[in-house]
Amino acid sequence: MPTPSQLSPVSESTSSSRARVGGALVRKAKLQDAVSIFELVNSLSGDGTLLRRSYAEICENVRDFTIAESENGVFLGCGALHLYGPHLAEVRSIVVRPEAKGQGAGGKLLRSLLDEAESQGVSGVCLFTRIPDFFFHFGFRVVDRTVLPDKIYKDCQTCPRLYACDEVAMVRGLVPKMAVLGPNKIPEPELVKLQTGTITGTK
Ligand SMILES: CC(C)(COP(=O)(O)OP(=O)(O)OC[C@H]1O[C@@H](n2cnc3c(N)ncnc32)[C@H](O)[C@@H]1OP(=O)(O)O)[C@@H](O)C(=O)NCCC(=O)NCCS
Repeated sequence: MPTPSQLSPVSESTSSSRARVGGALVRKAKLQDAVSIFELVNSLSGDGTLLRRSYAEICENVRDFTIAESENGVFLGCGALHLYGPHLAEVRSIVVRPEAKGQGAGGKLLRSLLDEAESQGVSGVCLFTRIPDFFFHFGFRVVDRTVLPDKIYKDCQTCPRLYACDEVAMVRGLVPKMAVLGPNKIPEPELVKLQTGTITGTK
């Protein structure tokens, strides 16, 4: 089976030259960015810094991703905003190429994801991280992970580090008062009621 980098041309993100961020630009990702995202995210999944994402999963969720690139179009980094619902979104897979760190690209990516959450009317944004200090800069605070059942049911219950997790849970905005995922699937009409607060039944 071909590897993702054999499926499309190697992007400039694999260039060994030092990336100069300068006025890094951020934009929504396109499918053509999927290989660069795949390679960068998974370069940091081995030690658990980031969750491993398959190439197929990145393509399927590419609309969640925002990327940073140099003025010359060199790929510098990426981050994703996963929407659970109006009550919660999650910042995932945020990473900047090692040679481009410390020049503002990560901050721009995160601000853009937070703007996106705001434009979607999401009341709280969560993430799990080993570097809470970075996220304190942007208004996140540490919370007990049990206040984020959606995240636990989406990722933690299948994570090999479930009983050896060294990440802290953080939230910016409101801690969610509801969840849409769980060990037992919630019937869809119930979800509709939860979300709208007005509908009492569905056809
Ligand atoms: C975290 C990461 C995305 C930051 O990207 P970056 O481009 O280096 O960050 P920036 O240059 O935009 O820094 C923005 C601010 O955060 C601070 N900062 C950056 N990395 C930090 C860290 N690890 N801890 C604390 N503060 C940090 C910077 O000093 C800067 O502060 P300032 O605005 O007061 O000057 C990048 O270091 C990275 O890719 N790390 C590896 C992947 C990772 O751990 N991702 C997080 C997974 S949850």
